[in-house]
Amino acid sequence: MQSVAPFPFGASINVPLLKSNPTYRVVVAREYNSLTPENVMKMSPIHPAINTYSWTNADTLVNFAQQNNQRVHGHTLVWHQSLPGWLTNFVGDSAAWENVLKTHIQTVVSHFAGKLASWDVVNEAFNDNGTLRSSIWLQHLGPDYIARCFQYAHEADPAALLFYNDYGHEYSTAKLNAIDSLIRSFLQNGVPVNGVGLQMHINKNTSNSSIANAIKVMAQTGLKVHMSELDIALNPEGNQSLTFTPALSQLQADKYNFIVRAYKNIPAAQQYGITTWNVSDADTWITTNYSRPDWPLPFDSVYQKKQAYYAIIEGLTSKWNYDAATAQSTSGTYTDLGNNGTAITANFTGAAMTFDNDNSSIQNIGFNFNYNGSTYNQFVLNTNGFIKLGATAPSSASIFYPTYNGNTNSVITAPDVDLLYPYNHDLTGTATTEYRVYTSGSPGARVCTIQYRNVADKLAPEQYSNMNFQVKLYEAGNTIEFVYGSWAPTANTSTLITAALGIKGSYANNSVNLSKGSSNSWSASLSTANGIYFINGDYSAAGPQFNTRNSVLPEVGRTYRFTTLAINTLPVTLLDFYAINKKTGIVITWLTANEAGSKNFEIQRSLNGTDFTTISTITAKDNSQATNNYSFIDENAAARKGTIYYRLKQNDMDAEVNFRVL
Ligand code: XIL
Repeated sequence: MQSVAPFPFGASINVPLLKSNPTYRVVVAREYNSLTPENVMKMSPIHPAINTYSWTNADTLVNFAQQNNQRVHGHTLVWHQSLPGWLTNFVGDSAAWENVLKTHIQTVVSHFAGKLASWDVVNEAFNDNGTLRSSIWLQHLGPDYIARCFQYAHEADPAALLFYNDYGHEYSTAKLNAIDSLIRSFLQNGVPVNGVGLQMHINKNTSNSSIANAIKVMAQTGLKVHMSELDIALNPEGNQSLTFTPALSQLQADKYNFIVRAYKNIPAAQQYGITTWNVSDADTWITTNYSRPDWPLPFDSVYQKKQAYYAIIEGLTSKWNYDAATAQSTSGTYTDLGNNGTAITANFTGAAMTFDNDNSSIQNIGFNFNYNGSTYNQFVLNTNGFIKLGATAPSSASIFYPTYNGNTNSVITAPDVDLLYPYNHDLTGTATTEYRVYTSGSPGARVCTIQYRNVADKLAPEQYSNMNFQVKLYEAGNTIEFVYGSWAPTANTSTLITAALGIKGSYANNSVNLSKGSSNSWSASLSTANGIYFINGDYSAAGPQFNTRNSVLPEVGRTYRFTTLAINTLPVTLLDFYAINKKTGIVITWLTANEAGSKNFEIQRSLNGTDFTTISTITAKDNSQATNNYSFIDENAAARKGTIYYRLKQNDMDAEVNFRVL
C-alpha cells in the first residue's frame, strides 16, 4: 500500500507480535511506511512506577522502523485509559499532579526526541456530547490541561509534530464541533498543535457522507489530518454466529475505497497519512475488546490480502473523485439556450439527419475541464443522450441502456471512458430537434451548457414525444449538472422504460448513477425509501436502475449535481461589511466569497466599543466558492442615540463598523 500511496500509509503495531511472528514482520515491512505503537508507548506499559520507565518494547519498534525506513508516530502521552496503578493511587495537590503530568510527558518525549516524527499528545479528551471527559487529568488539573500537555511536549522535542487524537467525528456533530473549537482556540492562543487525528473506528453502517464531512471539517482547520486508527467493523451488532460473507466483504471494500478517495482530496500538505489499527483480522483489537467475531482490516487472519486491500489500492491510484455520497438533487431553473452559442449539426451521419444513433463532430467546451485525472476542452455529443469528453467519438454510436429489451450495450459497461449521460436511452430526433453548446461566464467561472432540445424516445411503445435537457460543466470546482426542461408524454400506455443517468470515469466502478423506480418522482428528496438515490457503480439487472414512464415527468428545472470530493479549505473572504439606518432599524449587510464549509456568522454589538455581546447568529450559506450576500436588521438599535459598534465574527475573519445614531 505504501508503495502506491501519495501520502504515508501506516499501521499500528503490536510489538510482541512483531517479535514473535515472521509473517507479521514481512507484511509490516512491505506494506507500511509509518508505524504507530498500538500499546507500548501508553502510560501504563512505559511508565510502570513513579520513577521507572520501561523503554524496551518501544525501542524495539523504533529500531525496526529505522531499519525499514519507516516513520514512527507516538501514541499516546495523555489518555484516560492505560493508567498505571501508582497514578490512580497518587495523592497530591494540583502542583503535584501538574508535576506528574509534565514529568511524564517530558521524560517520554525526550527519550524519543529525534527518532519520532510526531505524537498523539492528548487522546480522547471529549465525551460524545462535546463536553470534556471527566478523566483523572481533568479532575486534578482543570480544562486547560490539554493546552499545557502540548506546551510540555513541544518543549521536550520542538521538532515533533503534535496531534490531538479522538474518535467519533463522523457520528457526533457535538464532538466534532468541540474538537474544532479546541483546535481553533489553540491556533488563536499560539498553543503548539500541528495536527488532528481522526481515529475512524467505523463500521459497515457508517455513512460515507458523514465520513466526508468529518474529514472536511477537520481539514478546514488548516492543520495536518491523520486518519490515525482506521478499521471497518462488520459486526457492530455483536452477532456471535456471524460469518464473513462476500456481501460483507464488498461493503467493506467499498467503504475503504471511499475513505481513501475522500482523504486523497484534502490538500496534499495536510495529508499526514492513513494508519489502520493493526494489520490483519487475527490482530485486531475489535474481536478481543468487544468479544465478537469481526473482520475489520485489509488482511485476513493468515495475512492474505482481502478485497478491502485491493479496494484501498484502487482508491490510492485512481483519479476518480466523484461519489454518490456527494451527488445532489435540487430544483433550479431551465433556461433554453435560444440562439446563444453554436448549434451542433456537423457530421451527423444518419440518413437525412435523423439524429438516430449518431455522434456529433468534435465540439469545444470553451475552457479546460478537469475530469477523472484528464483535462478536456472538447467533447462529442451522442444523440442517445450522452456525451463523451475529449476528441474521440465513443466506440459505438448506438449505446443505450435498457437491459430491459435485452440490450446489454450500456454506457456504464462500454469500454468508453469519461461519459456523461443525462438520459441515456434509445433516443431519436424530431422535426424540431436541435443540439447546441454555449459557454458563458468569465475566466475561472465559466459554464459550458450542452443542450438536447425536442428529442424523443424511440423504443416502442414510446413514452416521451418531446424531451429537453442540458449538461452543464462548471469550470470552478469541476461540478457537473444535469438540468431537465419540459417533457411531453406520448399517448401510449404508460410502460416502464429503462435509461441510465449518471457520470462515468474509466470503468463501471468509476461511475455515479441515479436510481429511480419508474413511478417515483424525479423531484422527491433522495432516499432509498423515496425510491430515488445515487449509487456508485453499475446498475444491477434486479435494480437499482433508472426507470421512467410517461405518467411521471421531470419537473422543469430539476437538477442533478455531481460534485468532486475535493475540499475547499480556503478561508472565507469578506468582500464588504457596512450598516445603514432605515426605518426598520439598523441594517447590517455583508458580502463574502469562497465560503464552503464556513461557520455561522455572529453579529455582536457594543455601546462602548469594548464590551461586545452577540445579538444574532446567522447561518452561513455554505455555497461552494460562491459570492453570498447577507443582511441583518438590528431593530432595537434604532432607538439608541450615540455611537453603536457592530462586529462581525466568523472563524476565518472578523470585521467591525461604528455607527452613529443622531
Ligand atoms: C487499544 C488497543 O488496540 C488494545 O490492544 C488495548 O487493549 C486497548 O487500546 N482508541 C485508541 C487506541 O486510541 O489506543 C485503542 O487501542 C483503541 C481505541
